[in-house]
Amino acid sequence: MKFFADTAEIDAIRDLAATGLLDGVTTNPSLIAKSGRDFMEVTREICAIVDGPVSAEVVALDHETMMKEAEVLRKLADNVCIKVPLTVDGLKTCKALTGDGTMVNVTLCFSANQALLAAKAGATFISPFVGRHDDNGFDGMDLIEDIRLIYDNYGFETEILVASVRHVTHVLQAAKIGADVMTAPPAVIHALFKHVLTDKGIEGFLADWAKTGQSIL
Ligand code: E4P
Repeated sequence: MKFFADTAEIDAIRDLAATGLLDGVTTNPSLIAKSGRDFMEVTREICAIVDGPVSAEVVALDHETMMKEAEVLRKLADNVCIKVPLTVDGLKTCKALTGDGTMVNVTLCFSANQALLAAKAGATFISPFVGRHDDNGFDGMDLIEDIRLIYDNYGFETEILVASVRHVTHVLQAAKIGADVMTAPPAVIHALFKHVLTDKGIEGFLADWAKTGQSIL
């Protein structure tokens, strides 16, 4: 499963990229606003740090203006992935852009039928929002299971990008279901490394090592 960071914070992206485990980045207008940075400038910087897809979202609601915005965004770098909302105009834009070889991430997906439409429109990624789904009394992971089943039934190549990830259990469940990608805030990715027994084990080994009076270097 690929790991994307869901953030527009450059330092956090640099830090995760240094682990060698970062396959891409997703941003959205709220994350750009939170960063306080210029959209074009920060997107260009992220694209230079990460080799994989970097999602940059259009803000227009009509197809024509979405295409114009996508044109500006895709000139920023070769690894820009245009993010469009799951609407009729968004999917028209998806069809046009992917037909032209541009990566497209269809966002704000909350049903398996919506995911089916996105795959038919040739989406590179579909982003079901599991956390927001859970928040509204649904089970976000049921949605991922349904999408996996449908995509496998028909051999769709659209990658399932599990979004709105809130905790490490979402990541585990997504991996068990066979999602292609998950995007999570840096804090969730860092939490994946942690286990109390790992910390305790290191502490014990170091205490015993100190008793030997030896050093490796
Ligand atoms: C994904 O691409 C979205 O940017 C993101 O995962 C939304 O997450 P949120 O529900 O925590 O805002």
